[in-house]
Amino acid sequence: MVNSAPNIEIVILAAGKGTRMYSNLPKVLHQIGGKPLLAHVIDCAKQLKASAIHVVYGHGGDTVPASFAGETINWVLQAQQLGTGHAVAQPMAHIEEASLVLVLYGDVPLIESATLQQLVSLAGTTKLALLTAFFDDPGAYGRIVRDTSDKVVRIVEKKDASPQELAIKEINTGFLAAPASLLRSWLAKLDNDNAQGEYYLTDVIAMAVADGVEVVTSQPGSLAEITGINNKSELADMERTYQNKQARKLMEQGVTLRDPARFDVRGNVTIGRDVTIDVNVILEGDVVIGDNVSIGPNTVINNSIIGDGSVVLANCVIEDAKIGRHCTVGPFARLRPETHLSDEAKVGNFVEIKKSEIGKGSKVNHLSYVGDSTLGQNVNIGAGTITCNYDGVNKHRTVIGDNAFIGSDTQLVAPVTVGEGATIGAGTTLVNDAPAGQLTLSRVKQKTIDGWQRPVKKKKD
Ligand code: UD1
Ligand code: CA
Repeated sequence: MVNSAPNIEIVILAAGKGTRMYSNLPKVLHQIGGKPLLAHVIDCAKQLKASAIHVVYGHGGDTVPASFAGETINWVLQAQQLGTGHAVAQPMAHIEEASLVLVLYGDVPLIESATLQQLVSLAGTTKLALLTAFFDDPGAYGRIVRDTSDKVVRIVEKKDASPQELAIKEINTGFLAAPASLLRSWLAKLDNDNAQGEYYLTDVIAMAVADGVEVVTSQPGSLAEITGINNKSELADMERTYQNKQARKLMEQGVTLRDPARFDVRGNVTIGRDVTIDVNVILEGDVVIGDNVSIGPNTVINNSIIGDGSVVLANCVIEDAKIGRHCTVGPFARLRPETHLSDEAKVGNFVEIKKSEIGKGSKVNHLSYVGDSTLGQNVNIGAGTITCNYDGVNKHRTVIGDNAFIGSDTQLVAPVTVGEGATIGAGTTLVNDAPAGQLTLSRVKQKTIDGWQRPVKKKKD
């Protein structure tokens, strides 16, 4: 049998200004889940394996294409926004005659590929497929007008509708699929003789009917899929809808979320079995969490990996870090980029670690800064230890061998090396390497001054 599935070419309309966002940023670059609205639509489009993705841009100029460098997209400028029909006409010269054109919207980010796949299948190679929805209060949407035998005959925009048409509850979502050859011929015939003086994409429906082309309809899985964004309030609502979806998906996979309404994913997460996540946790970028991990409240984890059985206590900020298995981090710990904790390491409260390797079973438990360092296994870093890694111009490394014990309030002036099993006395300012297995300390000798008396406050005369 001949495979009759046509090539799909996707047109995404993204030229609008978004006046009601009151922002200098083009509307489609505002974010949901840490990702521009348009990026959500492009990612969905990519799942459909289209032969080309054409994005019609205008407002904001080159900032829109510039935000997607590296994506294979045909950017088509619509210098003036003369209507949705005019917008779709812009890329038609780049679209192959035999393709099926699917129209999407840069400000409608939660559309699902399954819904679009259904629309595309319905259109086949010969039909016009429309995605419609039903609203008790159809508001500003275009209305789907059907004849007595229930066939779609046209779409009427709200501003052009008669009172009877305004009462229609089936609305146009804007999403449609049609054969390129037909769409091209219809778009060429559009005029702007209507209430808004715009070239309406919706006028092609009546043209299809006049040409004897069958108009078929399907519906989205949920109304969130077809909801567009026009202002910050709608953006916030959509953010919650999106986050709720992420949270439900993770819970369906077995993740325990103490409160799905207080959990945000702004990126891509992979989470293992028997993981518990407390309230107000934000996961950003690419985050991988192993099995049996527990994440405490008020924690931000960005582009990091957390190994099996590790515990992150409350109020931690973890960025570009790799945490091994059975580690403990926090409360109040900050792991900065290129921190690598080996298995069973412990990082406690008010500790900052940057670009450092912390060996297996090593502990940095209290009030410390460890930067540009390599710690071996079972090292114990006392409270208040600071690696002085920066001389004001360059950064230098601190290397600490296995089983070393660094006394509290030590400053390690890098570059410096502490040998295996060395002990550094509390309060030491270490400027030279400390030999293995020995006690090294720098300390002013303690003295007591006999007969010393505290000053007394002078009496006012
Ligand atoms: C359109 C539909 C309406 C439907 C509604 C769904 C038309 C004429 N009407 O109305 O039936 O119910 O969407 O939301 O199509 N755009 C451009 N260039 C333009 C004009 C628009 O890129 O010249 C983009 C906008 O940025 C926006 C989208 O197309 O993302 C829709 O345009 P808009 O003017 O908002 O159409 P609606 O009036 O909402
Ligand atoms: Ca709109």
